[in-house]
Amino acid sequence: MNRPVMEGVRLNVPAGVTHAKLIEWVAEMAALTEASEVYWCDGSTAEYDRLCAQLVAAGTFKKLNPALRPNSYLACSSPSDVARVEDRTFICSAKKEDAGPTNNWMAPAEMRELLQTGSSALFRGAMKGRTMYVVPFSMGPLGSPIAHIGVELSDSPYVAVNMKIMTRMGRAVLDVLGTNGHFVPCVHTVGAPLQAGQKDVAWPCNTTKYIVHYPETQEIWSYGSGYGGNALLGKKCFALRIASNMGRAQGWLAEHMLILGVTSPEGKKHHVAAAFPSACGKTNFAMLIPPEGMNGWKVTTIGDDIAWIKPNADGRLYAINPEAGYFGVAPGTNDKTNFNCMASLKRDVIFTNVALTDDGDVWWEGMTDEAPAHLLDWQGKDWTPAIAKETGAKAAHPNARFTVAATNNPALDPAWDDPKGVAIDAFIFGGRRSTTVPLVTEARDWLEGVYMAATMGSETTAAAAGAQGVVRRDPFAMLPFIGYNMSDYFQHWLDMGQKLQASGAKLPKIFCVNWFRKGADGKFVWPGYGENMRVLQWMIERIEGATTGVEHAFGTTPSYGDLNWNGLDFTAAQFDQVTSIDPAAWKTELGLHEALFEQLAYHLPMEMSATKADIEARLAA
Ligand code: GTP
Ligand code: SPV
Ligand code: MN
Repeated sequence: MNRPVMEGVRLNVPAGVTHAKLIEWVAEMAALTEASEVYWCDGSTAEYDRLCAQLVAAGTFKKLNPALRPNSYLACSSPSDVARVEDRTFICSAKKEDAGPTNNWMAPAEMRELLQTGSSALFRGAMKGRTMYVVPFSMGPLGSPIAHIGVELSDSPYVAVNMKIMTRMGRAVLDVLGTNGHFVPCVHTVGAPLQAGQKDVAWPCNTTKYIVHYPETQEIWSYGSGYGGNALLGKKCFALRIASNMGRAQGWLAEHMLILGVTSPEGKKHHVAAAFPSACGKTNFAMLIPPEGMNGWKVTTIGDDIAWIKPNADGRLYAINPEAGYFGVAPGTNDKTNFNCMASLKRDVIFTNVALTDDGDVWWEGMTDEAPAHLLDWQGKDWTPAIAKETGAKAAHPNARFTVAATNNPALDPAWDDPKGVAIDAFIFGGRRSTTVPLVTEARDWLEGVYMAATMGSETTAAAAGAQGVVRRDPFAMLPFIGYNMSDYFQHWLDMGQKLQASGAKLPKIFCVNWFRKGADGKFVWPGYGENMRVLQWMIERIEGATTGVEHAFGTTPSYGDLNWNGLDFTAAQFDQVTSIDPAAWKTELGLHEALFEQLAYHLPMEMSATKADIEARLAA
């Protein structure tokens, strides 16, 4: 075998690791990046503690007050590295059409020259002065037939400890890989090599960023960012962009969806999967606590961000959560909006870009009604309510996040890591729309549901760099995450539906929701959070055929009397504010659907335009 000669760096392959292809690749990458050391993560708690202590010593982590927040840390990033970078994310398929019009594309050879092979390729020498961590991880329960393995090589110990929480990470993965098991190679560098004697900074990164996927060879290359989805490559890069390609080829779905179990007072359990765009409520919905007045209902969490969904022999769709932890939005989270989440965050957490209190705990906007009198904000600057009032400075970055193990969640479903997954009864799609889109609409059939999901719009959030609050089409909440042509993805959903139907199985119902309609005062009209249980109950009753709704141009929406209002004072007039359909607004909306379809004309399933024509005809009638 042609094994690259290593000069100066020892590979440190652990005893018993015999995967020749893996070792060869690690050697190649160590040579390319000129890492000064190679360290193989074993995934143990001792290793986690050691790396965290090292991050504290380096100034990346602050250890929080163990009396208030045991075993927890705060990291504050560079202000230039706070969110996913969609304009720097590339799908480098051999053919441009296969990436489609919604993805950035570059020819693989051209990208490889830029990153790997060119004389000034970005990865060349990128890890100089740094340790390259070998992070083996499994998406899905280790060793289960539905799981897929990846190995991330990263020069960021922050990435290594986050991957320990977010995935099944470490030596056991290498044991499952054996001598020739399949893995997705993921290379990550912060792009900040250290010259001899150069002092490191707390959050190394580079202003140049590339988040690159080669779908045909199933490779991920990430350069220049240490933050979230840019750097924790098991998440969006693997479990969505690469996995969506796997799913297309193999007949399953990789989706930006939470998965929850909902049990009725009579003890009947259903499962739903819901796709909302980034920072639009998945974590909150997945951990929902029914309000008073809805006693007896119970929601349990299977996953909060990603679902892999496969047809079973019984013709039904089963979903698993490929992750092992939550990388969730901190701002807005409090005991009232998400009690389960706050309970999950009591200990063993890595916080990123929240504020630090004077007694060594964390705070973020919305955590308490009253802000502490003094804080260090996410950039380490003094922050007081008075300063905030004057300058508008946020104590926590709007995309500040926590990393925590799923097992910290008191509402964790017992089947959360069952390799079989859970049978899905309904899909929910929902955007953040201050106008136009009603609280809830049920699609009359699979096709109408696919249309709703495909044409979904949402206001942009702080989860991605760029303008915020701008309505854009975000089909299936997958705009930033689909790893191939969007129109082919619509077709894949239609094909899946047809196959399931042909097998005689009952298809999951499809609903569209919007928790975010605003009144004239600019405030949300719908109370949201736990109160979303009322909408969920209606959906369950629809699945059971136990309630009615009103049919309109786009589907079926409950009338006021169809929802359970026990314990909530929400008037029929308010209900009208969140469910009314304004024909003029919908005319504009359908124009935006048309613009999307024009953009996606190549391979757009003809059923899409036909469904739109049906809606227009009904609207005109
Ligand atoms: P990603 O992790 O980015 O994929 O986001 P997510 O979909 O899991 O979003 P998350 O549940 O973290 O919510 C994001 C923001 O929306 C938080 O600030 C929440 O407080 C807010 N939010 C969630 N649910 C609701 C709701 O029902 N109503 C309102 N008004 N806000 C909500
Ligand atoms: C999202 O942006 O949808 C996230 C956070 O879930 S990140 O992992 O950074 O992509
Ligand atoms: Mn997400």
